[in-house]
Amino acid sequence: MNDPALQPVRVWDLPTRLFHWLLAAALVGSVVSAKIGGAAMTWHFRFGYLVLGLLVFRLSWGLVGGRWSRFASFVYAPGTLLRYLRGQARPGEHLDVGHSPLGALSVFALLAIVAVQVGTGLVADDEIANLGPLNRFVATATALEATAWHKSYGQWLVIGLVALHVAAVLAYLFVKRRNLIGPMLVGDKPLPAGTPASADGLAQRLLALVLALLAAGVVAWVIRLGQPAF
Ligand code: HEM
Repeated sequence: MNDPALQPVRVWDLPTRLFHWLLAAALVGSVVSAKIGGAAMTWHFRFGYLVLGLLVFRLSWGLVGGRWSRFASFVYAPGTLLRYLRGQARPGEHLDVGHSPLGALSVFALLAIVAVQVGTGLVADDEIANLGPLNRFVATATALEATAWHKSYGQWLVIGLVALHVAAVLAYLFVKRRNLIGPMLVGDKPLPAGTPASADGLAQRLLALVLALLAAGVVAWVIRLGQPAF
C-alpha cells in the first residue's frame, strides 16, 4: 500500500473468506472424485453435501453477513452496471469496494449454476450404482434428465464459469495491476479513509457459526430424507 491516502479496510469478513475457499476446494474435490469414479463416488457425494451446506450458509450470510457480503450491497440496477462500464461511477457510490457490478454478475451466475448442479445431483440416478438422496421424490424421467444435465452441460458450465472467474481475477492482477486475491485471503483492501467496512468481530463470527451449524442441519435432513424408514 504505497498511497498514504489509503488505509486497510475490512471488506471480506472471515466467514465469507472461509466460505469462498471451502467452496473452491469442495468444487475441485467433486470434479476430481467424479472423474475417478468407482469407490471415489462416496467422496463425490460428500463434496456435494459440503457444497450444498456452503450454499445454504451463503444464502443466509447474504442477508445478515458483513456489509460487503450482503446481497443488498451487490445487487445493482442495469443503469449502474452501464455507468460502471463507461467509467462514470458517482462519488460515494463505492462500486469497487466489494463486488463490482460486473463481478457481481459472475458471482450470482456461479452461485446459481452451482446450485443447479447440486439440485440435479440430489435427484440423479446413474442407472449403475449411484442414486442421489432425493431421487425417490421425482419421476424416473425427471431423474434421468437431471442426471444427463448434471453429467454434461451442468458439469461443463460449472467448470467454464470457474475458469472464467479465475481468468478474470488474474486479468485484474496482471493487466489492471489490482490484486483482488489478497483481500479474499486476509480480508482487507487498501481504500480511502472513511470507506465503510464489513463488521467482522466476535459477535459476527459467532452468528456465522450458528448459521453454519443450521446449514449443516439442513444437509443432514436432506441426507436422511433419502433413507426411507423400513
Ligand atoms: C472452484 C473454484 C472457485 C469458486 C467456485 C469460486 C467462487 C467464488 C464466489 C462464489 C465468489 C463470491 C464470494 C462471495 O461473495 O461469497 C468468489 C469471489 C472471489 N474469488 Fe473465487 N472461486 C473459485 C476459485 C478462486 C481462485 C482460485 C481464486 C484466486 C486465484 C479466486 C479469487 C476470488 C476473488 C479475488 C474473489 C473476490 C472478487 C471480487 O472482488 O469481486 N477464486 N469466488
